[in-house]
Amino acid sequence: MRDIVAPESARFRRFTEVFGEVVEPAGYRQIIPPMMEDLGVFTRLGDATDIVTKEMYDFVDKGGRHVALRPEQTASVCRAYVELRPLTPWKTWYSGPNFRYEKPQRGRFRQFDQVGIEVLGADDPYLDVEVIALAWEFYRRLGLRQVQLLVNSLGEPDDRARYVDALRRHFEAAGDALSEQSRETLNKNPLRVLDSKRREDAPIIADAPTIDQFRSDAAAAHFATVRSGLDDLAIPFVIDMRLVRGLDYYRRTTFEFQGGTLDSAQNALGGGGRYDGLVEDLGGPPTSGIGFALGVDRTLLACSDERVFAAPDDAIDVFVVDTTGGREALLITSDLRAAGISADRAYENRSMKAQMKAADRSGATFAVIIGPDELTSGTAIVRPLRGESEQGTVARADLIFDLTTRFPGRT
Ligand code: HAM
Repeated sequence: MRDIVAPESARFRRFTEVFGEVVEPAGYRQIIPPMMEDLGVFTRLGDATDIVTKEMYDFVDKGGRHVALRPEQTASVCRAYVELRPLTPWKTWYSGPNFRYEKPQRGRFRQFDQVGIEVLGADDPYLDVEVIALAWEFYRRLGLRQVQLLVNSLGEPDDRARYVDALRRHFEAAGDALSEQSRETLNKNPLRVLDSKRREDAPIIADAPTIDQFRSDAAAAHFATVRSGLDDLAIPFVIDMRLVRGLDYYRRTTFEFQGGTLDSAQNALGGGGRYDGLVEDLGGPPTSGIGFALGVDRTLLACSDERVFAAPDDAIDVFVVDTTGGREALLITSDLRAAGISADRAYENRSMKAQMKAADRSGATFAVIIGPDELTSGTAIVRPLRGESEQGTVARADLIFDLTTRFPGRT
């Protein structure tokens, strides 16, 4: 876990704002779920998921309830749907921290932020396309170019179950040739063996059956429409039949966005898919669902690597230097801020030299200087700290108006 301080914190905030600007015009509205839920909300994600079995921050609270810090937000949105029963389709977006007890490294943190969308109550392959297209548009808005979209369809639950059986048989037949870790994974979830990066597993995985041999006609047709919709919108993608993702709730469409600049273990910038069935698992009616979550920390690392989406300029407009006690600085900064001009000042009535140093450090465009002479004569000095304009003396009564003309469009 880490502190995010300026200017990175401003970048974080802007990131979320841009995400809202992309998804709100498409009808998505923000949901702010709690960061902690009853443990049961997340155990429904499946006991074959490391995120649930190994990485959850769960504890018993003072009231004896077994709760967990959320490892992701899809389950929370589904839980909220069950409680609120909103009109469908329920199109939501969210942002905020999640917690997973993972081994920290570049791009992997124990507290990390996500932005995401979820749509509940609409079963339409064109919705899958819309959801993917919104993530794609967001990457475009950030300026990221090295993003690859991988898509797959895990079929209907029955298809998936038959595929999992076939995989189990295939991997069991490999016996000891399979790594010990993968043999362990096999007991819990044969699909996840496909994720193994161990060299000895590679040839066995290469020979494994693929999901396309198991998809029902309906699932295959759904996937075909998703692919043709992506083509219609000119969104490039690669079909990756080994894409199973880390959560067990996916049915039919799954997708992932990979960055080109990060280590392969952390190169997933975001991912998502259909999870028809999760609402039911949480006690609701049969409801289809689809969405994605994008890792904020990781995506910002990718932005830094690609030199795009820099932190917004946070330089102050005006820095007030007042060597007469500080009351003038109080009044001037207050008036400037009310006029839409950002203003900072020095404190503790320090020397002219010390205050001017602080003014330079602030990155301000102008310093306003009030010394004893200016106080007596009812004037102020406006000194440019950047740019070409000349220093001038302005009547104190005209000071705020004078400065507003130097920052047109602020009010
Ligand atoms: P996920 O693949 O577990 O999916 O996480 C989505 C993204 O969150 C990852 O691609 C990654 O960028 C980021 N992320 C995950 N763990 C960490 C970490 N420890 N440190 C930094 N970033 C991390 C989900 O969470 C699903 N809820 C996505 C979804 C929404 N599916 C349907 N709707």
